[in-house]
Amino acid sequence: MCGIVGYVGPRPSQDILLAGLARLEYRGYDSAGVAVIDEDGSLGMRKKAGKLSALRDSLADAALPDGSTGIGHTRWATHGGPTDVNAHPHLADEDRLALIHNGIIENFATLRDELAADGVSFRSETDTEVAAALLGREYRGNGGDLQLAFRNVVNRLEGAFTLLAMHQDHPGLVVGARRNSPLVIGLGEGENFLGSDVAAFVEHTRKALAIGQDQIVSITPDAVTVTDFAGTPVEAEPFDVSWDAAAAEKGGWSSFMAKEVAEQPEAVANTIRGRIQGDRVVIPELDGLDDLFTGINRVIITACGTASYAALVGKYAIEQWARVPVDVELAHEFRYRDPVIGDDTLVVSISQSGETMDTLMAVKYARERGARTLSICNTQGATIPRESDAVVYTHAGPEVAVASTKAFSAQITALLLLGLHMGRVRGSITDASVDVAELAALPEKIAKVLETENDHVSQLAGWMADTRSVLFLGRHVGYPIALEGALKLKEISYIHAEGFAAGELKHGPIALIEPGQPVFVLVPSPRHSALVHSKVVSNIQEIRARGARVIVVAEEGDAAVLPFADEVIRIPLAGPMFEPLLAVVPLQVFAMALATAKGLDVDQPRNLAKSVTVE
Ligand code: M6R
Repeated sequence: MCGIVGYVGPRPSQDILLAGLARLEYRGYDSAGVAVIDEDGSLGMRKKAGKLSALRDSLADAALPDGSTGIGHTRWATHGGPTDVNAHPHLADEDRLALIHNGIIENFATLRDELAADGVSFRSETDTEVAAALLGREYRGNGGDLQLAFRNVVNRLEGAFTLLAMHQDHPGLVVGARRNSPLVIGLGEGENFLGSDVAAFVEHTRKALAIGQDQIVSITPDAVTVTDFAGTPVEAEPFDVSWDAAAAEKGGWSSFMAKEVAEQPEAVANTIRGRIQGDRVVIPELDGLDDLFTGINRVIITACGTASYAALVGKYAIEQWARVPVDVELAHEFRYRDPVIGDDTLVVSISQSGETMDTLMAVKYARERGARTLSICNTQGATIPRESDAVVYTHAGPEVAVASTKAFSAQITALLLLGLHMGRVRGSITDASVDVAELAALPEKIAKVLETENDHVSQLAGWMADTRSVLFLGRHVGYPIALEGALKLKEISYIHAEGFAAGELKHGPIALIEPGQPVFVLVPSPRHSALVHSKVVSNIQEIRARGARVIVVAEEGDAAVLPFADEVIRIPLAGPMFEPLLAVVPLQVFAMALATAKGLDVDQPRNLAKSVTVE
């Protein structure tokens, strides 16, 4: 959470910073600020509560003198509410030094007491201002060596942080550091950039350097230096950004979410591309890593939110194809008990951003316990894949809307690929030709759902704009999709929604059903299991008998649901493991259309941020 951008070069920095912040706003949007060192060598700063537009308006009313060294920040509040004063940058050394921060400085109270005893007074309630004040004191104390002062400061901080700082005595220099929080370098011609992710600078350069944990970076227009926290030079890992700035633009869509929902056929196709050879799945990134899969007797998939629902689909697929037990663990629960893991365990983490702190900590914990680790991630250069033994990238392209859609579909696709790959390597699959054909057909089928059901589902959502509660039921792989349908609705429309395993209803939740209660039911194909299908049809009858308004998502031609459904949403025929990728689409469209009907901002729902980099 929080987006960070830094620039040094020949160009005026303000517009570069604002454009970078616009691309990072998905990381937090409760306040924003920029600081620049102008040509006369003085530092100017402006920060405003509210979305980036509030900062832009303020700068339009009264511009800062421009300069070619600057830092910018978009915030998701942790310490101190979203106010002008608590917004970043924070200043120190008589307002000649500016600092921005992403993360939580856990020992900030001790440091603040120490500084207060030294006569420092604070303007904000933030942990960040403490780091700025500490840097100011170190800088004055060492006679004006910004890099040394910065190194001394980061060595005193505990917790997770990315920090950028600059001082007006050093125009053309921005220093940065990271511990368990993201920071990447963009390499330009005679100019350099820092950003929470490559979106911050991708319109200027696609050449980037990944910075490791506990490393410090200094950028000037012509040089980039990276050291560890002790000051020893280290090599940063270069990479090319595989997408361009246009991929992170709305491109005529009403919202990023609408664009990303529509991009799902492409996201799935790109994730499959290059990973099917004939009738087999072969994941080139896993070449030579068969021992990740052969010597294990257990898989744990760990993730948060939407990614954890993808994980639940992965459990079914990997157990079926690779014949190894799979547990799904919420990352934030995983390491706070004493899980039974060791070198016979493969821990698979899933994260769109690759920066989710809970998931990152779970991966580190698993490694410390000797487990093998593999991550499924959508973001190059991100921390989680760098901390894992292996990575399978989803190629969904940048996902900007807070509500995850195309990344979810790409995560399930990657898990299906992984399950088939593992099954082949472990010898538990001899013929994957049918499943491989199903996989390859998915993009076209998803496109068909979008084409045939979009208007119908949007209309349905429009009728239901005043609904106060919606329930979602599913069985087998439909269960995670019920959970995901409910999460999408909660997060962008602020309507109470819950997903249940259909069979669980009679154990309690059925008490919620009253006349008119809308319930989506995900009906599995009768061709896969007549038994499971019939159980779900019975569940529909149970809720229908109690007055529920039943909206079913069922495959084309399933007539058994017709007598009991108020609305039927159709999806194409697909194999049992592949249905989730089709069934989730109308639920995403429904949530988006309902939020839109309520006049809400679907891309930036309240209280949320795209990338949750605090625990
Ligand atoms: O970046 P990650 O995939 O690790 O993010 C995990 C969750 O925070 C994320 O999926 C969240 O639940 C989404 N906002 C849901 O739409």
